[in-house]
Amino acid sequence: MHNLIIKNAAQVVTCSGFEGKRGREMNNLGVIENGTVIVTGGIISHVMQQGEPLPVNEADYKVIDATGKALLPGFVDPHTHFVFGGYREEEFAWRMRGDSYMEIMERGGGIVNTTRATRTATEEELVDSARKRLDAMLRLGITTVEGKSGYGLDRETELKQLRVMHQLNDLHPIDIVSTYMGAHAVPEEWKGREDAFIDFQIAEMLPLVAGQRLAEAADIFCEKGVFTIDQSQRYLQAAASLGLKPKMHADEIIPLGGAELAAELHCLSADHLLQASDEGISALAASDTVATLLPLTAFSLREPYARARTMIDAGCIVALATDLNPGSSFTASVPLLFALACIYMQLTPEEAVTAFTLNSAAALGRADRIGSIDPGKQGDLLLLQFPSYKFLPYHVGMNIVERVIKKGEVVV
Ligand code: NIG
Ligand code: FE
Repeated sequence: MHNLIIKNAAQVVTCSGFEGKRGREMNNLGVIENGTVIVTGGIISHVMQQGEPLPVNEADYKVIDATGKALLPGFVDPHTHFVFGGYREEEFAWRMRGDSYMEIMERGGGIVNTTRATRTATEEELVDSARKRLDAMLRLGITTVEGKSGYGLDRETELKQLRVMHQLNDLHPIDIVSTYMGAHAVPEEWKGREDAFIDFQIAEMLPLVAGQRLAEAADIFCEKGVFTIDQSQRYLQAAASLGLKPKMHADEIIPLGGAELAAELHCLSADHLLQASDEGISALAASDTVATLLPLTAFSLREPYARARTMIDAGCIVALATDLNPGSSFTASVPLLFALACIYMQLTPEEAVTAFTLNSAAALGRADRIGSIDPGKQGDLLLLQFPSYKFLPYHVGMNIVERVIKKGEVVV
């Protein structure tokens, strides 16, 4: 039973809401000055203005004095690949020398490189390395993380990755939302038989994953040289018919019409979108599909950032994610994420906070449970060393998270 009172926070940044916010609404953080929040039995029970009398018996609660500090909802990271074997530091050096991400992938590096290492790793080794990554994320204020399979690309290893995430969901304070991504790349043994590989996904893998409830969502890398629009559509429609929520890696390197397809299929989210077209942005703005942007990936690949300003002004629901993975974004740096989003993608600090709390919860279909400080939501909170959320992008690259609270329990 976790009962907690956080008293007199300089700001309670509620991010209040139960669904993703779009456009101008993203600036509305619902800040309460000198507010108090009460968590009862792990669930937020009261959000109070200064001076309101305590409605509970203080003796039954642990009390934290938050004078001079801002209180926010725990961060929600809606796109990562945090379970993997091996590293690709050599490929990073090649990219800095001028090779492109796709060139390295075409010559057998990239995702397929990590696939080889993940296939040979034991389940225990994967749990061990992934757990350390989760520890680091928790210290940065992340209280819910999405994780994708997709470094197995065969039946056994895909299931192994999903089992690792389920184990960690039980072992670790961070909540893990599993996504099946068997269509992350074409494995060496299926080269040249991409359509047949998608048929295998539809006939065997998606029903298996859905049947064993090993994932909530399904994702595909829709990209020139990986999977086509047509293959993505077949895969995602099959996933949706089995109850797996569709998601897409869309328009990352080449504008293929991924954003348009994601909107048409009512995907939970379309992710990356560096090259999304005007039509794609309009389609997303007219839909409930969340545009999940990954500035750390654009930065690490030295690619132009997604057009976040255009998307928000058009009325899209925009979320942010770290994309932690061993290739295109080997980082879960939340401080750098906020800095890049504000400095290079022209998000306001308010929009960036909404994008990494309520809207990222919406990108996981969980905005009803997490992502804001509202009565009834899970008691996932974080306390900053500073009195305002505005320090998040401003104190560039520095972790200013002082305490992390998960379901009412102080875990950092
Ligand atoms: O989101 N673009 C495809 N998938 C990952 C990268 C995976 C990898 O390079 O290992 C991404 O960037
Ligand atoms: Fe990704």
